[in-house]
Amino acid sequence: MIIFLSSGLFCLLMAAVGIQAQQTPSINDLNAECLGNVIRLSVAPLFEDVDAVFNDTQIINLTPGLATQCGFSFKFDPMGNAMFFASLQNCFSQNMDDKMFSLVMQFRLPGNHMTEDPVYRVGKTCSYTPWTSREILCDRNYMEVSVRRTLPDIQTIPKQPTGGPKARSGNFRRGAEAVASGYKMTAVVFSPSKNVMNVDEVQRKGYAIANTPTRLVLRSPHNAEETYLQNVAGVPMRVLSTSTFFEQKWLVTRVDATAVCPTPEAVAFTPEVITWYMPKHIDPLFSSDAFTMLEVYMGIDAKRLDTEEMAARNYSVLVTEAHIIVEIPVGAVGGYFKSHIQDDQYFVTYTIEPMLELLWIEEVAHENTSYKVLFPITTPPMARPPQVRNYTPLDTVPEQAVFVLELGTFNLDVELLNITFPTMVLTVAECNARGFNVQEQRSPDNTLKTFRMEVPFSDPVVFKERRAEQGVTTFTLQLIYGLVIFPEYAPFSHSAVVDAVLLDIVPPSVTGNCDQENFHITVDYRNQEPFFVVLVGKRLLNHEFAQQYLTEGDTDFTITLPFSSPDAVFESVHSSSVRSRLDVALLNPYNNMTIKYFSLACSFLKTLTECFSNGTMTALAVKVESAPGLNPGQLTLSDPACGPTYSDDRFAYFHFTVNSCGTTRKFINNVMLYENEISLPDELEVKLNATTSSEEEYQ
Ligand SMILES: *[C@@H]1O[C@H](CO)[C@@H](O)[C@H](O)[C@H]1NC(C)=O
Ligand SMILES: *[C@@H]1O[C@H](CO)[C@@H](O)[C@H](O)[C@H]1NC(C)=O
Ligand SMILES: *[C@@H]1O[C@H](CO)[C@@H](O)[C@H](O)[C@H]1NC(C)=O
Ligand SMILES: *[C@@H]1O[C@H](CO)[C@@H](O)[C@H](O)[C@H]1NC(C)=O
Ligand SMILES: *[C@@H]1O[C@H](CO)[C@@H](O)[C@H](O)[C@H]1NC(C)=O
Ligand SMILES: *[C@@H]1O[C@H](CO)[C@@H](O)[C@H](O)[C@H]1NC(C)=O
Ligand SMILES: *[C@@H]1O[C@H](CO)[C@@H](O)[C@H](O)[C@H]1NC(C)=O
Repeated sequence: MIIFLSSGLFCLLMAAVGIQAQQTPSINDLNAECLGNVIRLSVAPLFEDVDAVFNDTQIINLTPGLATQCGFSFKFDPMGNAMFFASLQNCFSQNMDDKMFSLVMQFRLPGNHMTEDPVYRVGKTCSYTPWTSREILCDRNYMEVSVRRTLPDIQTIPKQPTGGPKARSGNFRRGAEAVASGYKMTAVVFSPSKNVMNVDEVQRKGYAIANTPTRLVLRSPHNAEETYLQNVAGVPMRVLSTSTFFEQKWLVTRVDATAVCPTPEAVAFTPEVITWYMPKHIDPLFSSDAFTMLEVYMGIDAKRLDTEEMAARNYSVLVTEAHIIVEIPVGAVGGYFKSHIQDDQYFVTYTIEPMLELLWIEEVAHENTSYKVLFPITTPPMARPPQVRNYTPLDTVPEQAVFVLELGTFNLDVELLNITFPTMVLTVAECNARGFNVQEQRSPDNTLKTFRMEVPFSDPVVFKERRAEQGVTTFTLQLIYGLVIFPEYAPFSHSAVVDAVLLDIVPPSVTGNCDQENFHITVDYRNQEPFFVVLVGKRLLNHEFAQQYLTEGDTDFTITLPFSSPDAVFESVHSSSVRSRLDVALLNPYNNMTIKYFSLACSFLKTLTECFSNGTMTALAVKVESAPGLNPGQLTLSDPACGPTYSDDRFAYFHFTVNSCGTTRKFINNVMLYENEISLPDELEVKLNATTSSEEEYQ
């Protein structure tokens, strides 16, 4: 009839009100691991409430106080993940001979509050045999020491077999007495206060004390009344020092148990590095110098890392004469950044939860002390004032100009909600509907974000002010970004004023004149960068064309083209002149709309017919604008057999003797006039009439 159970467990059983959970869905997203003397459960998504399930029937809600007293802790990160840590020697695991430990937990996830919240149940059994004679576990909320008892087996019996006056719901009481072959756990003495408490009092004050088949376990919240601060090698440490008395008739036996844990002051910060100092020789634990440190391991979130993993994450552990020094770069893998707002200022903190596992041997008694500390570290708030970067391109016309702004840099837990303009507040969706194209941009390593936005100058939220005397227009955008930090939904804002000054648009001017041979067209683009393309005749002014015909001034350029250039058109032809016209257009390159049109027509002196003394004549026929369909190659002289000696699509050149090709002659005032006519053979088309007169040679 001997049942081995921790004394605490038993009474708890009496106190708890057992309710079997109705739903116990699958536990796919609960990942349980045995990590030495700790069980770790990774829970996603966040849970709302957690219960320990004892002996499959008792469901005990883990309030924060109970969790601390019983060896449980939680970690919630801002990404919505939760981790749950349990000491193997917690109050609720089923202990099989100090070798196997079985824990069943129930996680209640946030439901829709109409039906009952979904409940996930997870069980894990861990085997742990390498117990050293003394094991110290420092978790975020408690310190625990477990020592091997050298007493004979202790039997634990319940003091009150059923719920009595002390078994109040929600009040954890464990008034148990341990009896071992007649040994009875009678008192705990705390040092240095020398306060003596019986087991009931100890439990009532929030400590936990328990006997397991071979060990005595004591647990205390950090900062409990009976703990004290001690400076160990310059590091402030918190100490729990106890002696537990067992009595059997006239015999009294004492078991000492001390736990020492680092305080948050054991850490130093720079903006780049977190440095955590642990004393190498923890005086309160070791009465002599006969202790040698055998092992040092580092880990994260209670899980040990090997040297390669540590190097890959840039963690380092340095063992010096007096200290074990852990260095972690701020921002290293394994931790996370969290945003904060203080006085509407943006800050971030970085949190990481390293672990140290140490092992000492006591040379004389040959007894080992193992030490594990899970040590959450959060940096002080680091100011990260956001900035608006202005990427607005100014080499454009106001109709096309847009403010391009980027607000940042933020941690991933920040969201942009709305933007307040002087005249209205727009949500991000409304901004996008208006064409502002609000986009979240992530850094390459996906750890930071910025918000990018484009606001056209033409949008009414942009304030425009023309300053005529300076010839400029100022475009101003005033905005207040409305942001929040998730998950706590903490609002903050960032205001900015950006402006852009554009020179007023003076339309470019085009002027021109002609000399005897050429058109000269001058384009003056004034104070603007030339933002147009030039169409000369039907040809775009490209680089090649420009090299040949263009000369540049400070704010203008001049195109010089011969009157006979294919880009010009002939308007009409006279006996000794040709009227030629050049059309020039400046086009908007974005839509080919005409910004400016200019046309220049001049008469160029040009003798199209010539008579030579050897009796030959030449004549040049040109195609005019009004005869667009004409093929000059088909033209003939009066004698249709006389075609041009040379022709192209604009000219026909005739070379003939005065007594051929139907040339007629007449005397007029002592001048011999030779006449021929150039026309299309069927005489139907509009004729070109080259009338030749020579007054000198044939007088
Ligand atoms: C555990 O529960 C079973 C029945 O479910 C019961 O028989 C047993 O006594 C319980 N053990 C303890 C220690 O309460
Ligand atoms: C580790 O540090 C090196 C040098 O400081 C750096 O180049 C590297 O990116 C760091 N690695 C990680 C994972 O932070
Ligand atoms: C102490 O720990 C070391 C290293 O793990 C081990 O080799 C040794 O056997 C242990 N001694 C005792 C007494 O447990
Ligand atoms: C704009 O966003 C902020 C969050 O920073 C919020 O507090 C505020 O109520 C929002 N304003 C409107 C009009 O929605
Ligand atoms: C403008 O006209 C040119 C020449 O015809 C053409 O190559 C170009 O694609 C046009 N551009 C636009 C924006 O329509
Ligand atoms: C007549 O003179 C012109 C000009 O010198 C010359 O081009 C042409 O070939 C000559 N014609 C003949 C038939 O000699
Ligand atoms: C050709 O020239 C003659 C003489 O100059 C003129 O009388 C006649 O009208 C012209 N014909 C045409 C079609 O231009």
